[in-house]
Amino acid sequence: MDNTNIQIVTPARIPYQLVGRTTSDSLSDNPVVPQGHFTGSMGVISRSYVRVKGEFMSTLIRTGISLDRELLARFDRAVARKGYGSRSEAIRDLVREHSVASDVAQGRVIVGTLTLVYDHHQPKLSEHLIAAQHHYHGKVLAVTHVHLDHRNCLEVIIVKGRGKEVQQFADHLLSLRGVKHGKLVMTTTGKQLK
Ligand code: NI
Repeated sequence: MDNTNIQIVTPARIPYQLVGRTTSDSLSDNPVVPQGHFTGSMGVISRSYVRVKGEFMSTLIRTGISLDRELLARFDRAVARKGYGSRSEAIRDLVREHSVASDVAQGRVIVGTLTLVYDHHQPKLSEHLIAAQHHYHGKVLAVTHVHLDHRNCLEVIIVKGRGKEVQQFADHLLSLRGVKHGKLVMTTTGKQLK
């Protein structure tokens, strides 16, 4: 296989306190900046340091992966097309995407937006939509409704709950007769990700 090595720098994920930035091993005299988390310990770079139980560590971890050359070229084209500044940033987004999918699979609390386009002349549809939202009242955070034209409505429902419950709620609404199209987007509450 034709492999190419690339380097990724990821934010760290154990509790830390940033105490200074330097390009050498001598630490800045300016202690204390933001608190944060480390993700791993596969390597160390010498740009920013943190104090963990009295010892200095890096906030970024540099790691390497091997990829098939053609796969990497394809990835680089996607990175350029989407306007990422670097491979690292694109890979960080993929890891975050995986993390959200994992939150959903493991039943953690997520937030989501359910977008619906429907025909409000469809008999009983408006009542069904409202009844479902009342049933999930603790999970529906907000609803925005736009009258697109004489018949059609756009509704965006913002929900928060465990992935499975949110998915069931969305499936129920999307399957109602008169709903023409819709999509659920689930994302992180932001607490677990840097
Ligand atoms: Ni309407």
